[in-house]
Amino acid sequence: MLIAPSLLAADFGHLADEVERLNNSPADYLHLDVMDGVFVPNISFGFPVMEAIARAARKPLDVHLMVVQPEKYTQRVAQLGARIMNVHQEACIHLHRVVGGIRQAGMLAAVTLNPATPLATIEDVLDDIDIVMLMSVNPGFGGQSFINHTIEKVARLKEMILRSGSGARIEVDGGVNRQNAHSLAQAGADILVAGSSVFRADDPVKEIQALKDVQQ
Ligand code: DX5
Ligand code: ZN
Repeated sequence: MLIAPSLLAADFGHLADEVERLNNSPADYLHLDVMDGVFVPNISFGFPVMEAIARAARKPLDVHLMVVQPEKYTQRVAQLGARIMNVHQEACIHLHRVVGGIRQAGMLAAVTLNPATPLATIEDVLDDIDIVMLMSVNPGFGGQSFINHTIEKVARLKEMILRSGSGARIEVDGGVNRQNAHSLAQAGADILVAGSSVFRADDPVKEIQALKDVQQ
């Protein structure tokens, strides 16, 4: 299982230390949550902060853009050196063009679906993307409870991917913890994002390892 701790739950007063802690952990990615106050009802951080994080990080960055018109920022996300650029299906009128642009800029293209968005909305771009991320909370805030329906949705997505022959990976974001990680793994999840369960644990590094050890 690949684990992407979300820095949204980290101590922003000591960001460099938090990034360094993750550098020395078994985390596979650093998940960065960008919120614009329009697509979601909250504002988090933007490029100046991400540039500082990118300088300190030795893990690949997974940039989750909860913003309208995310395609405006493809070049800047690429300049950060991000490995994954994650855009919301609901934010992209011309999704096919947007994911093409992300790949052209040398990044893995990830498309995220809100809990209420049907899988059918990405069926026709499955061959053009590297990752489908399912939100297991309504985006905008860390620390919310996991929506159980996501487990069944992951299983249906896995079937859809196998049927299509696409190599897309499945990522899940929101309320992920030791309790639901096993069911998510069994349903077919490849990458788990975890914010509060990691950063509120007594030992965040141990918590990342526990999530990594979940069997598929
Ligand atoms: C929600 C964000 C998530 C969030 C995860 O809008 O996209 O990445 O930070 O945090 P937890 O694990 O606390 O739900
Ligand atoms: Zn996220």
